[in-house]
Amino acid sequence: MKLWRGGRLATLAGERGWGLIDDGALLVDDSGHFAWVGPSADAPRVDDVAELHGALVTPGLVDCHTHLVYGGNRANEFEQRLHGVSYADIARAGGGIKSTVAATRAASESELLAAAQRRARALIGEGVTTVEIKSGYGLDAASEARMLRVARRLADLGLDVRTTYLAAHALPPEFRDADAYIDAVCAWLPELQAGGLVDAVDAFCEHIAFSPAQVARVFEAALQHGLPVKLHAEQLSDQGGAQLAARHRALSADHLEYLSPAGVQAMAEAGTVAVLLPGAFYALRETRLPPVAALREAGVPIALATDHNPGSSPTLSPLLMLNMGCVLFGLTPEESLRGLTVNGARALGLHDRGQLVAGQRADFCIWQAGHPRELAASFGHNPLIERVCQARQGEP
Ligand code: NIG
Ligand code: FE
Repeated sequence: MKLWRGGRLATLAGERGWGLIDDGALLVDDSGHFAWVGPSADAPRVDDVAELHGALVTPGLVDCHTHLVYGGNRANEFEQRLHGVSYADIARAGGGIKSTVAATRAASESELLAAAQRRARALIGEGVTTVEIKSGYGLDAASEARMLRVARRLADLGLDVRTTYLAAHALPPEFRDADAYIDAVCAWLPELQAGGLVDAVDAFCEHIAFSPAQVARVFEAALQHGLPVKLHAEQLSDQGGAQLAARHRALSADHLEYLSPAGVQAMAEAGTVAVLLPGAFYALRETRLPPVAALREAGVPIALATDHNPGSSPTLSPLLMLNMGCVLFGLTPEESLRGLTVNGARALGLHDRGQLVAGQRADFCIWQAGHPRELAASFGHNPLIERVCQARQGEP
């Protein structure tokens, strides 16, 4: 047992509020869970004690939507977009996701791993303790497996990694018929799952990607194999993706700038988390805002994530997402922090982390800050002092 004492705890206990304990202590048991959380004055006596010297403590950050493993970069498309070419135009011309597929297939597994490790270290440096990583730049059985293997190996850095199968991301060049490709996507899943490489299944439902009917087939295959689903939904247009996701009891629907009132309602009824991605909104210079007030009113849990990828969201800063969640989307600093902790965890189906509460996994961050709102108020600044993560380095 180890006691951390004398910190300002933002426990995020319960469904709202910071759950502040001004002079608080955390007792961590030998299984890596909080055995007790409360005022330092009431803390149980143990031999192993660390002083927090008044520093702020929050739950470890959960980045629940990333595409961290890929080859190449797309700064050329950044320049094109600055000249007025849209993300969808670039995709239709064979760039976008397809260009990253070519670069990913051309890279060796060790090159992919080295690049992904550099990115993961950046997330770790800002307090991320759990990360979700999607496939979707391989688009054939072997290349998707390679991406998922590389993603899993990032656990060696001392990070809890969840992997999501996103083969329904774009149509690869060797297929002309999207329905035939969807057949293949469903056929590859059982072997990847048997290899222990898949925690959830995602798809991109959009006019430049796959139709709701095609996504429904992928979802049915996932559910048949006992895997939960998620969806890139209503990013560029309203496809009714949120309703489709809700019908399949999706863990989350992500992006959601074009989400309709019916979509909000369906998500609320299904308990599907809304994952908002301000990095993609910002980088694509989107002007349509996700319907935050309607989500709030309907009681849909809101998560935030980096959506790190080389095209629409090349950021590696979860702290910047806290700020953008407030400035761009109108979240409160508390909603932003819940979005990158407890609600990020829920978007992955994880209920054992994201709050500083007895019984939860003892993943937490110690910050040079007096109040948790300061984490969202500043940007381009990293106040992390120390990150405590139960996924220890070198232990996959
Ligand atoms: O979350 N929208 C689809 N997928 C990614 C972008 C992938 C890419 O452009 O490479 C996203 O924005
Ligand atoms: Fe994404």
